[in-house]
Amino acid sequence: MLECPAAVTARMPAQGQEWRMGGQRAGFILCFLSGIIYLDHAGATLFPESQLTSFTNDLMENVYGNPHSQNISSKLTHDTVEQVRYRILEHFHTTPEDYAVIFTSGSTAALKLVAEAFPWVSRSPESSGSHFCYLTDSHTSVVGMRKVTTAMNVTSTPVRPEDMWSAEERGAAAGDPDCQLPHLFCYPAQSNFSGTRYPLSWVGEVKSGRMRPVSAPGKWFVLLDAASYVSTSPLDLSAHQADFVPISFYKIFGFPTGLGALLVNNRVAPLLRKTYFGGGTAAAYLAGEDFYIPRSSVAERFEDGTISFLDVIALKHGFDTLERLTGGMENIKQHTFTLAQYTYTALSSLCYPNGAPVVRIYSDSEFSSPEVQGPVINFNVLDDSGNIIGYSQVDKMASLHNIHLRTGCFCNTGACQRHLGISDEMVKKHLQAGHVCGDDVDLLDGHPTGSVRISFGYMSTLEDAQTFLRFIIATCLGSSGGHPVPQAGAGEAEATSAEGEAQDIPAIIGRCGLLTQEDALTDSGVCTDLSTAVNAMDLGPPLHEAARTQQMSLEKTTGVLDGDLGPHVVTNLYLYPIKSCAAFEVTRWPIGNQGLLYDRNWMVVNHNGICLSQKQEWRLCLIQPIIDLQRRVMVIKAQGMEPIEVPLEENSERAQICQSKVCADRVDTYDCGEEISSWLSKFFGRPCHLIKQSSNFQRNAKKKHGKDQSPGTTATLSLVNEAQFLLINTASVLELQQQLNSSDENGEEELFPMKNLISRFRANIITNGTRAFEEEKWAEISIGSLRFQVLGPCHRCQIICINQQTGQRNQDVFQKLSESRKRKVNFGVYLTHVSLDLSSPCFLSVGSQVLPVLKENVECYDLPASEKHQDVIS
Ligand SMILES: *Cc1c(COP(=O)(O)O)cnc(C)c1O
Ligand SMILES: *[C@@H]1O[C@H](CO)[C@@H](O)[C@H](O)[C@H]1NC(C)=O
Ligand SMILES: *[C@@H]1O[C@H](CO)[C@@H](O)[C@H](O)[C@H]1NC(C)=O
Ligand SMILES: *[C@@H]1O[C@H](CO)[C@@H](O)[C@H](O)[C@H]1NC(C)=O
Ligand SMILES: *[C@@H]1O[C@H](CO)[C@@H](O)[C@H](O)[C@H]1NC(C)=O
Ligand SMILES: *[C@@H]1O[C@H](CO)[C@@H](O)[C@H](O)[C@H]1NC(C)=O
Repeated sequence: MLECPAAVTARMPAQGQEWRMGGQRAGFILCFLSGIIYLDHAGATLFPESQLTSFTNDLMENVYGNPHSQNISSKLTHDTVEQVRYRILEHFHTTPEDYAVIFTSGSTAALKLVAEAFPWVSRSPESSGSHFCYLTDSHTSVVGMRKVTTAMNVTSTPVRPEDMWSAEERGAAAGDPDCQLPHLFCYPAQSNFSGTRYPLSWVGEVKSGRMRPVSAPGKWFVLLDAASYVSTSPLDLSAHQADFVPISFYKIFGFPTGLGALLVNNRVAPLLRKTYFGGGTAAAYLAGEDFYIPRSSVAERFEDGTISFLDVIALKHGFDTLERLTGGMENIKQHTFTLAQYTYTALSSLCYPNGAPVVRIYSDSEFSSPEVQGPVINFNVLDDSGNIIGYSQVDKMASLHNIHLRTGCFCNTGACQRHLGISDEMVKKHLQAGHVCGDDVDLLDGHPTGSVRISFGYMSTLEDAQTFLRFIIATCLGSSGGHPVPQAGAGEAEATSAEGEAQDIPAIIGRCGLLTQEDALTDSGVCTDLSTAVNAMDLGPPLHEAARTQQMSLEKTTGVLDGDLGPHVVTNLYLYPIKSCAAFEVTRWPIGNQGLLYDRNWMVVNHNGICLSQKQEWRLCLIQPIIDLQRRVMVIKAQGMEPIEVPLEENSERAQICQSKVCADRVDTYDCGEEISSWLSKFFGRPCHLIKQSSNFQRNAKKKHGKDQSPGTTATLSLVNEAQFLLINTASVLELQQQLNSSDENGEEELFPMKNLISRFRANIITNGTRAFEEEKWAEISIGSLRFQVLGPCHRCQIICINQQTGQRNQDVFQKLSESRKRKVNFGVYLTHVSLDLSSPCFLSVGSQVLPVLKENVECYDLPASEKHQDVIS
């Protein structure tokens, strides 16, 4: 590979790494993907810049008309599309004589097409009907075909991978090759969950009747779901003549998306039924009569409407680029497998000082060869007592290290259940507890609801794998010990990572993994103590120390309430007029119907109208808004910029209302104009706009918070993520500070002054409580004469790692909080104002007394999963 992914921002001349592909020297990899380590190639792979440029050049130099017209430019399109069909077939070692290519919007659409067009025979008194069988490790889109078959009175049968062995016996026993009753068997060439590769030989075995997924007389057809497999492996359809092969091109090339194909074996093509006809599919039809003659070629019959012809042309450039950069799929297969095998070996041999493994890997193979295993590793991280650390937690930690991985069940419930040991009852119970596919409820009753997946693509490098391993080691040792990963914007102090550390990872495998096998023989335990190896890498204090601090802090936080709460007052008040920007401190401030007046009324959006947060743009914290109530303006300051003013209220004649999204809620907003837009664009060096929530628009809080509220009193929200007010308690911050202090061995400099720590939590109300985390036991509070309902804890994300004064990042804050709070990263509580008297103006003031009302049953304080609150900070 001689090229970087297209999203590269900087190419550094040094530190390049030589990597061999397929035994040949492939060049030097000098890619820094905006600092991101991308490990979700099975989700969507990356594309190189040259693929885009050759495609756009093609579009600029040629006119491609609608392929259904009769113009010369249409002819060019038609011919190019046909050429691409040919190219696709060639890629899969077959020809138009044997297979047809039907373009679809993706694998899922291809699967749906098969479900609808397959010549199913319904169950009836005369016939036992067709069977639809699918491997339980199939993708959701395969399992979903059973909705269609059930409606047609066709029996669907899930087959477990282990059942395929008895399939052979059933095949041998049944001897009626002549019966024409059609059955369909679907299986993935590679599991989208674990990367397991199932034998391609099943295609021939099932088609010939030597293997029968269920014992039924008839003729078996095979659908090979190759969507995941073909992104990192060649597929030879001349050797394995599956009847149907669905694919999605973004999984192979990264671009274009929204385009896939169904490859159909020509022998089955004439049997397919058409349930609908769209433009381009008819040879002739009558509008007034049920007369329709489809076109003869199977592609023309099934491609309803105009295909995405420009995207099809992009495929040509995809194939060209892939071949030019890698020399072909066989090389990609070897390269990606080598990386996965290396990572698997290292990962599976990592252990804590007490010998407990650091991860549990879900796989059916030992990564012995690319024939049985794709470049996918699925696992959960464990603590030193063998408890699973939830995947959302791992995901957040990974993003601190700029590592992009995939978590959840990967739309493959079957595989998820099998590997994680989740019963059908548990899935249903989880749903009742509020867990749906794709949310961040990662543990229920201590059981994982999903796992973590990393996957490699042709652009992946050894450095990616090693950075990932360093992340796991640093995280599981409980501290990154002053060696955080360098971040964009991080200062000198934090940019000290990793020169020459590339060599250390093999050293660890040497010590902990490969040595292990010998050690096991000499009965010194299954695995070697990792801490020595890691000390050598100087990644921080050994684990037992971290574990000790954790234990200490737990003892502290679980203290029992004794009623002696002491007098409590509000010590600081902050509002954040522009979401994600700096705080504006006040001592007395009016309360509006959405919280503190003008809190989060504005937000900065990118050129596409998407809200920016500190997660993508840390410099937002350097923008300082100041509200001047007298002059009715917001003054905005930033270093190196002239201050600028924005009126507090919209000019209702001029304001153009547009719609934006905040945390999945639709809000009406208006643009604050060109002047501020160019000011922001200049500061960030990219096009940005400032938008304000329209004052006529009412956004209601989600019902989950509205426990005791009657329908008439739903809280209304500004552009916040969750709730009207966020309160934190100084005692809790102090406890965190102690932990952060204790991790600093040199004790040299004051790393985290209170004020600095407090600002990271971006709260509105700060109180001087006595006990850390007592606020989580409150049900209601009064502040001065105002009453507030306590909605629950605020679930934190990586933004607390950002120093709000400088934008520097330090992962310790998140890591310490996560350790000390038993991996729940909650901090602070959400409040809603319960207004008793709407007529008189309300104010919050520093110095007002805080009086909490405790929850009735403080012992079982723990919110059910459905009440968990999401990332907050804006
Ligand atoms: C991705 C995938 C699909 C679905 O592909 P879409 O592009 O989402 O339609 C189906 N099966 C497998 C094995 C996959 O990996
Ligand atoms: C698995 O399938 C889901 C659903 O289509 C998809 O979003 C994801 O990218 C797939 N991952 C793979 C191919 O591993
Ligand atoms: C293509 O079609 C356009 C519009 O229908 C027409 O003006 C043009 O002459 C046609 N060109 C050719 C080469 O047929
Ligand atoms: C569906 O199958 C049942 C047998 O299981 C049969 O009695 C019934 O007639 C079938 N219905 C249709 C619509 O084919
Ligand atoms: C943390 O350390 C700083 C200086 O190193 C000190 O001023 C501060 O009081 C310490 N805080 C706690 C809670 O120990
Ligand atoms: C909080 O501050 C008030 C006023 O400064 C003081 O009277 C009170 O004792 C403080 N409470 C605690 C718990 O520190």
